[in-house]
Amino acid sequence: MDNDNAITPKGDKPLTLDPEAATEEYNVHGLTIEHFPGDVMGIGVPAPRMSWVYDFEPPEGAQILLKIRRRVPGGKPTDENTYLPAQQSVMVPWQFNQLTSRERVVASVQVVTSQHAPLGKPSEELHFETGLLQEADHVADYVGPSWPEAETDHRHLPLVRADVTLREKPASARLYLSALGLVEAEINGHKVSEDALTPGWTQYEKRIPCWTYDVTDELNAGGNAMGFWLGDGWYRGRIGFDGGYANYYGDRIGVLAQLEVEYADGTTEKICSNSWDRQWKVTSGPIVSSDMYEGECYDARLEQPGWSTYGFDDSAWKPVAESFCDPAKIENPEILSIRPQEKHEPISIKKIGERSWLVDFGQNCSARIRLHLHDLASGDTVTLHHVEVLEPDGSIATRTLRRGQQLDSYTSNGQDAWWEPRFVMHGFRYVQIDGWPGELTADDMDCRVYHSELKRTGELETSNEMLNKLHHNIVWSMRSNFMSIPTDCPQRDERLGWTGDICLFSPTAVYLYDVEAFLNNWLQDMRTEQLKWGTIPYYVPFVPLGGWAHPSAISEWGDAAVAVPWTLYMDSGDIEILRENYDLSHDWVDEVAGYLSPDGVWDRKPEFALGQLGDWLDPTAPPENPALAMTQKELVATAYFARSCSEVTRMAQILGKDDDAKHFGELYKRVRRGYIDRFSNMDGTMTSDTQCAYALSIAFGLLDDDDVRRVKAGNRLAELVRDSGGKVSTGFAGTPFVLPALSMTGHDKEAFILLESDECPSWLYQVKMGATTTWERWDSMEPDGALNPGGMTSFNHYALGSVAAWMHSHIGGLEAIDPGWKHFRIAPHMGGDITHASTSHITPFGRAAVSWKLVDAEGKESTDGNRLEMDVTVPVGATGTVELANHEPCELKAGHYQLTVNR
Ligand code: BGC
Repeated sequence: MDNDNAITPKGDKPLTLDPEAATEEYNVHGLTIEHFPGDVMGIGVPAPRMSWVYDFEPPEGAQILLKIRRRVPGGKPTDENTYLPAQQSVMVPWQFNQLTSRERVVASVQVVTSQHAPLGKPSEELHFETGLLQEADHVADYVGPSWPEAETDHRHLPLVRADVTLREKPASARLYLSALGLVEAEINGHKVSEDALTPGWTQYEKRIPCWTYDVTDELNAGGNAMGFWLGDGWYRGRIGFDGGYANYYGDRIGVLAQLEVEYADGTTEKICSNSWDRQWKVTSGPIVSSDMYEGECYDARLEQPGWSTYGFDDSAWKPVAESFCDPAKIENPEILSIRPQEKHEPISIKKIGERSWLVDFGQNCSARIRLHLHDLASGDTVTLHHVEVLEPDGSIATRTLRRGQQLDSYTSNGQDAWWEPRFVMHGFRYVQIDGWPGELTADDMDCRVYHSELKRTGELETSNEMLNKLHHNIVWSMRSNFMSIPTDCPQRDERLGWTGDICLFSPTAVYLYDVEAFLNNWLQDMRTEQLKWGTIPYYVPFVPLGGWAHPSAISEWGDAAVAVPWTLYMDSGDIEILRENYDLSHDWVDEVAGYLSPDGVWDRKPEFALGQLGDWLDPTAPPENPALAMTQKELVATAYFARSCSEVTRMAQILGKDDDAKHFGELYKRVRRGYIDRFSNMDGTMTSDTQCAYALSIAFGLLDDDDVRRVKAGNRLAELVRDSGGKVSTGFAGTPFVLPALSMTGHDKEAFILLESDECPSWLYQVKMGATTTWERWDSMEPDGALNPGGMTSFNHYALGSVAAWMHSHIGGLEAIDPGWKHFRIAPHMGGDITHASTSHITPFGRAAVSWKLVDAEGKESTDGNRLEMDVTVPVGATGTVELANHEPCELKAGHYQLTVNR
């Protein structure tokens, strides 16, 4: 029988082999560069780091044979290879001469002995290619309309075209594509790619992405044509709330297209957009107007069939005008594009009036509808109004969208057509279609879900279906809001990169998807804005809007400058992320240090009408004042700042910046002392006797030096949870930390009570009310189905979904201890009504997984079961420590294990 205290793992399949016996098994897979998930075109890194994954621990002395074949267009391929010690497999530095522009690489790795004899098969080949790396490589200009345009909204959008004659069919061809505004490209009448909202949103004053496409198959010998749809997008369209801001980055849109072809004999040719060779023409197209939030209006009567094919008569078109942009700003994207991800079928289609229909797709998300328009007379208009929810009377709820009405319209030319808007994105579950002739059926539409392409890395499943649904909703809110930048919501007139939201959600995001490149890309813009405004603006990229026009340092939102890079580092172990963001984090902490009172408390009011946002959207806050919380704002501000000081100290230590580490370490001590002296009483209570106050104090380690206060604070937090009847009492700031703080102080029971409650406010209340994404407010919808009357009511915000980080680490039981999951914790906590759970995360070393169940003496699943059965996977290169209540910790090397433990 098992010793009660000891965990005895059984490795049914250890990840080490006898090298003599099984040489064929040392295979390598998952070869990648940087943070790209696989093959990639148009990278901007001349010396990309490489990573791969082992199925089995390479034997002593084993090496890696890294082979590449590289070639620039017009040149001959060269083969290069090198041998490396096999221990290193994550972000291995580039081993060859730096890559130049347009260079194509095919790479593979293979495990070999120290004598270089093969020990396994070579990995699958990885294909990647650099974009244009030098400023001088960009020969093309941005070109667009050459007529006077309306000054702000609802500008008629242009089409740009050019004929191109090629002496023969190219052996290979690339299109380098960018836009001031948005662009969709066609060659010879075909869309070049499925990418949407190209080139995405960056801080355009500093950088504009240029994407690389392989267009070899699109081009023919002789006459070809290129055509471009142009949209206003973030560049000059109306963005933001309080009336929004149009023309923020500029008032002239344009496309940059550089087509580079290579012929079979190795010669190359470039065709570049410009305003001087008379080949590039522009005219008004069928998109009468397109506003990212308000919707797109399309008039098919204005179509010009064949406009993007060779020989089209463009004599009535005008020459293009150049829209000037400094080529130094053009860069290769570090993230993947926004692309269609899946299709949703309607779950109901209801006729609600003469020519009016209501369609329910069953899932709130970011999507667009591709509609089959038929049986319409020329001039007939069909409109599509997209909403997240319905009013209690069954009508579409449009008030919460504010100005972002998400209303598309299509005016027919009398012909059959499939149509999807091009330069908008909508956050919706329901669509009302008006003006529809006859019967509307599922065959008439495709609902296409969009977001930035990301690799899924984390899963969780439990025996509680409501919790599974909550987790599913959290994933959907993340997917809806990872749209080139991390946004707050995808539907109303906002959709901004609110720093506070992702500050809270990033620990969940890094587990669910590989977001290192995505968020690191956005952090670059945060740095640009910090240098421009002297602080971290409320949202990034920043656009001055209404009462938020002047950035002022705000706690928690600004602390994203430290928390997000730190979270990315902990998940990936990529020290470059710390290096790149160190000045951002450092300067934020330095700035706020200047606002502290002598005792180290951040109580100076920001120069901003709402002051600190504090525990934003605390459930007691009235609908019209989300910042009116129970917890003192200066307590929240000081707690978050203390955490930032501690994290930036660790960053400085890791980067070897000893003076900074000392300086920030001392600052941390001062802030923590000030926090305790000002907000914590001797009896362990806090000046704000709230869940948020205790949660932050415990989870941020602010009471760690005083066991008595910490224990008392934990007890008081648990008591508050019991007193509330298990209802949530925290807003944005406190929510991610309540369950961790309860668990850290031995109150799992209360943590599960809070998580499994379905009374408003709680996470499962939303689920009970039929939510398919996570809401902005605990009571975005009231129990009678009425919508919260607040002007700020969304059904698709990820911030309160930050609870998933605890679900992963405590219900599933996986959590990184060392950066990059080199060492991680396997520590499921049993509680509530959960009898089994499983979770997995693809770490830089491969997949880590736990799945467990509680069984009774008969072997039946039961919460009272006293036997815990666990399956655990530890990937090669990492170690896991099993930590279970009442048991000695147990170290696991790479392997698959079965553990049975008596509780
Ligand atoms: C956004 C939030 C954001 C907040 C800050 C809201 O309008 O949707 O998620 O963090 O403003 O005040």
